[in-house]
Amino acid sequence: MSAPIDPTSTPAWADLTKHRDDFTPDLRGWFAQDPDRAARLTYEVGDLHVDLSKNLVTDETVARLVQLAEDVDLRERIGAMFAGEHINTTEDRAVLHTALRRPNGAEPRLHVDGQDIDRDVHEVLAQVYDFAEKVRSGGWTGITGKRVETVVNIGIGGSDLGPVMAYEALQPFVQQGISCRFVSNIDPTDIAETTADLDPETTLFIVASKTFGTLETLTNARLARAWLWRTLAENNAIEDTDEARQNAVAKHFVAVSTALDKVAAFGIDPANAFGFWDWVGGRYSMDSAIGLSLAIAIGPAGFADMLAGFHAVDTHFAGTDLHENVPVLMGLLNVWYVNFLGAHTHAVLPYAQYLHRFAAYLQQLTMESNGKSVRSDGTPVAYETGEVFWGEPGTNGQHAFYQLIHQGTRLIPADFIAAANPAHPLVDNPGDGGADGPTDVHALFLANFFAQTKALAFGKTAEEVVEEMGEGADPAIVAARTFPGNRPTTSILAPAITPSVLGQLVALYEHITFVQGVVWGIDSFDQWGVELGKKLALEIAPAVTGDDAALAEQDPSTQALVRRYRELRR
Ligand code: F6P
Repeated sequence: MSAPIDPTSTPAWADLTKHRDDFTPDLRGWFAQDPDRAARLTYEVGDLHVDLSKNLVTDETVARLVQLAEDVDLRERIGAMFAGEHINTTEDRAVLHTALRRPNGAEPRLHVDGQDIDRDVHEVLAQVYDFAEKVRSGGWTGITGKRVETVVNIGIGGSDLGPVMAYEALQPFVQQGISCRFVSNIDPTDIAETTADLDPETTLFIVASKTFGTLETLTNARLARAWLWRTLAENNAIEDTDEARQNAVAKHFVAVSTALDKVAAFGIDPANAFGFWDWVGGRYSMDSAIGLSLAIAIGPAGFADMLAGFHAVDTHFAGTDLHENVPVLMGLLNVWYVNFLGAHTHAVLPYAQYLHRFAAYLQQLTMESNGKSVRSDGTPVAYETGEVFWGEPGTNGQHAFYQLIHQGTRLIPADFIAAANPAHPLVDNPGDGGADGPTDVHALFLANFFAQTKALAFGKTAEEVVEEMGEGADPAIVAARTFPGNRPTTSILAPAITPSVLGQLVALYEHITFVQGVVWGIDSFDQWGVELGKKLALEIAPAVTGDDAALAEQDPSTQALVRRYRELRR
């Protein structure tokens, strides 16, 4: 890989800086003077209708941003990722999550580092589908011959957030009679609450861990195994022998990992282990075998639809001119807001209750990827990188934090995501015989989606407030009721939340994240920033449980906190 380019050294960065200095956002004026603005800045990618027109950009801004992409060799770097070059330089790895969704038989075949990537991906996928079918059909049973009713995925970070987000998003596609639960936190409450009402005879645990070395996951897996043995014994379902316990693990535990040797050491039958590869980052892995719980829940056909959705956006990203390339444009807009207009955060606001974990999922994807302050060659950056992503489903957010987005002092770009067709087309019938007829509740819901981006873009002038309140209105009240507008939003409208649409959305954000990382010259695929805390937790653990020598090695604040904990702990 060629060395990263300092974006501030490019001509486009200098141009953008100058452009910013002369820049006055005016969405009202821009729309009034340019009737084609909405059409010109709206794109179709797969099933997603993406309206960028309410962003704080002119045609000149977009042209300069695209020039920046060219100056940092974005096109070449997209090609390098898809080709399997080792763009994860700090770990010397290829980055090939896009290979996870290449259709079977895609040409030309992808060989990287001596590995037939397509063959390996489809071998594991076939194994995942086969197992998912067995569980769904009742062909796979627990130790007492009962079919699986509850799948418990034990994993954290990328081995949890993707599967749980997708499972929640795709509830209408989940097979009746099978449900999934997700345990991630090492807080013992998580596993205790999750298993409290479960029947061990109908429970299947999936231990999902890329490394199979993660403290939280292995601890929870051991707790789950102990729970299984204890509760099966209480049910008189197994004898009190090692062999019976091993047989129980074989029927109630499977694993997903790149470290199949460690899976075997845990006692899980290698025949029940599903592999993947170090070129799949944890936060990019929900479409690998890490999605096994989802594949069981929605079935192989649903999972395949999701992969096709991912692939549709991959194809667009890899093959579309930068000027028309939606992930490229959205990534560049984020760069514009972060580096030129001073935004620190980015809201993602799905008007879809089933997407209620989407922002949490995106937090790992975006912030673990782009929360870096050195470029991939180790040189420090002298500009802002990864913004904070956050969000909640609409309309809940409207009644909580939208006040700050509408009238606060901070610039918060926001993505609004909605589906035209609801999973539950309910009608509200006031039934009072009055003028109000039945209301399509989804239409009412989406009226909020449309209204919010309109209010954010165009605001409400003091003159409009006075017109509404009448002449002589108190100026203080007028000021409080004025909306400045020019709050940037992107609107994404899909036909419905389907497996394919979900795959498209996730791929869209994966590639937006990539584009930002390329502009910033960072390695978006490592996560060294999470290592120090993990190591220190292991060092502090003996102090917490009573080792005074270990306690004495800690800093004064940590010592005092641990002492206090030990006093309080019953
Ligand atoms: O600590 C961060 C991290 O390494 C994430 O990148 C990863 O998704 C998560 O931990 C879980 O890791 P694993 O799948 O190896 O258990």
